[in-house]
Amino acid sequence: MSNRRNFIKGTALGALGALLLPKLSDLKSSKKNPSSSPGLPVVISTWNHGLPANDAAMEVLMNGGKSIDAVEKGAMVPEADPESMSVGYGGLPDRDGHLTLDACIMDHNGNCGAVSYLEHIKHPISVARKVMDDTPHVMLSGKGALDFALSKGFEKEDLLTESARQKWQEWKVESKYQPIVNVENHDTIGLLAIDKNGDISGACTTSGLSWKMHGRVGDSPIIGAGMFVDNEVGGCCATGMGEAVMKTLGSFLVVELMRQGASPQEACEQAIARITKNQNYKDMQIGYLAINKKGEHGAYAVHPWFNYALHQNGKNELIDSPSFLG
Ligand code: GLY
Repeated sequence: MSNRRNFIKGTALGALGALLLPKLSDLKSSKKNPSSSPGLPVVISTWNHGLPANDAAMEVLMNGGKSIDAVEKGAMVPEADPESMSVGYGGLPDRDGHLTLDACIMDHNGNCGAVSYLEHIKHPISVARKVMDDTPHVMLSGKGALDFALSKGFEKEDLLTESARQKWQEWKVESKYQPIVNVENHDTIGLLAIDKNGDISGACTTSGLSWKMHGRVGDSPIIGAGMFVDNEVGGCCATGMGEAVMKTLGSFLVVELMRQGASPQEACEQAIARITKNQNYKDMQIGYLAINKKGEHGAYAVHPWFNYALHQNGKNELIDSPSFLG
C-alpha cells in the first residue's frame, strides 16, 4: 500500500483547456490501421491489484484473443483474491455484514452487461458478461441477479472471509459511518484493454464502499459512470467514491471529452474538475483512468496515492497518478 501514498505533485489544473489538443482526425487515423501503433495491444487497470490482473488479460491478448475476454479474465484475478479487500471474495461487507458486489463489462460494439447488489457469487464480472451475452437486458440486481447466476451454473458461496468478518466486528465497536479518504477502504478494479485488432473493451468490479448502507449501489455497475468504452474514441474507468462519479457520469464524460479532441490525460483532469467544482472533494478520493484508440493513456485523481498498472510494449508496471491535491 505504501507506494500508493507516494506523493506525486499533481498536474496543474491550469493545464486544462490546453490548446495543443490532438486532432480528431489523428484519433480516427489510428482506427484505420490499429496495428501500426507500437502501443498495442495494451491493458491498463486501477491500483496494485492491476498488475496480476493485467498479466492475465495480456496473456489473452498475446494469444490473439479479444479485448472483451481479456478484461473479463483480468477482473477475475482480484475477484478471487481474498487479500483484495474491496473486490469480490474477501471484500469488506456493508454495515449489516452483507458482502454485496457490483460489476459491469462493455465490448467494442457497445454491448454491455452489469450486476449490482449481488451476493454469494465469486465472479460478478462473469455474471455481468452473461447478462450481456445471454439476456436482452443491461443490468440485473440483487436476488434476480443471484437467481440468474445460479441458473447459469455459478456456485453459491460464502464470500465473507474470516479476516473481513473480523474487521467488520472491529468496525461495529464504534459503528462510525463516515466514508473517508482511505485506500484500504476503497479500491475498485477497472480495466481497459485494446486487442491486436484495435478493439477496446472495459470491465469494472468491486465490493463497493465498506460499511455502506445495506442496499447501497455505487458507480461500478453503472455503464458510463464506473466504466465506458466507445470503439471510435477510447475508454475510461473510475475508482473511489462512487457517489461523486455517478453525479457526474464520469467515465462517459471522459470518453466524450476525448471524442472532442482532449487527450486521455486532459479528459481525466477535466472530469476531476467537474467534481472539485461542486462537491466536498477534500473528504473523498476519486481516480480516473483512460486510454484512446492509439493506446495513449491518462490518469488523474483528487488526492495523491492513486496508482494504476500499465501493460504495454512488453512491460507491466505500476505508475503513480498525478492528482488535484498535492
Ligand atoms: N467506486 C466503487 C464504489 O463507490 O462502490
